[in-house]
Amino acid sequence: MASLHIDHLLGLQNVPKEDITLILDSTDTFLEILDRPIKKVPTLQGKTVVNLFFENSTRTRISFELAERRLSADVVNFAAGSSSVKKGETLLDTARNIEAMKVDIVVMRHSAAGAGHFLSKRCTSRFINAGDGAHEHPTQALLDMCTLRQKHGSLDGLNVCIIGDIAHSRVARSNIYGLLTMGADVAVCGPPSMMPYDLEKLGVRIFHDVDEALQFSDAVNVLRIQLERDAGADFPTLREYNQTFGITRDRLDRLGREVTVLHPGPINRGVEIESEVADGPYSVILPQVTNGVAIRMAVLYLIGTKAE
Ligand code: CP
Repeated sequence: MASLHIDHLLGLQNVPKEDITLILDSTDTFLEILDRPIKKVPTLQGKTVVNLFFENSTRTRISFELAERRLSADVVNFAAGSSSVKKGETLLDTARNIEAMKVDIVVMRHSAAGAGHFLSKRCTSRFINAGDGAHEHPTQALLDMCTLRQKHGSLDGLNVCIIGDIAHSRVARSNIYGLLTMGADVAVCGPPSMMPYDLEKLGVRIFHDVDEALQFSDAVNVLRIQLERDAGADFPTLREYNQTFGITRDRLDRLGREVTVLHPGPINRGVEIESEVADGPYSVILPQVTNGVAIRMAVLYLIGTKAE
């Protein structure tokens, strides 16, 4: 039985191709379970998973909880706003106290980059990163890659462009690492003010013209403008951003061929993507969400059952 090399899923940087392939291949089994009338298997019976969300989430939190319940794990949800974090408890004390209640897996979203790395070195549970600041969001990239494989058959040689607020995006970083490992040709597109320093060193192409980026692409992954991380300061107005970088029906019509459109959500309709595109024939945004549950089932299964 194949097993992961990694003990925790903290990001996709340095995760070997065999591990990403194993997760993506295992996902097919879990997608089949999601289509059954009774969507539940006893795989993680007796295991306890805590969902430790210090930041807001709709898709990731619900998707992890559904995945955990469909694998028959015992699930505990933690909401920072109503916890003793509000009384000044540190992240490490919070984690150690929860772990003292005999937890097996911690799924964590936190605003600080590296929060999962920090805890995984000081605690005994298995950690899965559900998004850490602007650093990584590995299960989002895995579900994006799963969706691209469904649509295009293989990631090897596939031209994928990530468009938008690259600098603030944990989704972009995890996609870049994962897609490059899997042999895709990766590009990014956005205003220079939204590009991280030294991006070329990762081995990606950079476009500042969205029509050129579309010419390059078999698929585009359109990112949300993260106004809560001050992204609005990086361009004059949302209207100008939409005119310069927005993925619109007009732009896709001018291209004259199909390009797969992904978006991790939540969407700012009329800013980075037009509704006609988000809800249109090339969009795989809702299949991404369905695949997210199966990807998280695969990750929980492979991490949760890996021998010590
Ligand atoms: N894609 C994503 O992470 O969405 P949420 O913030 O709703 O979890």
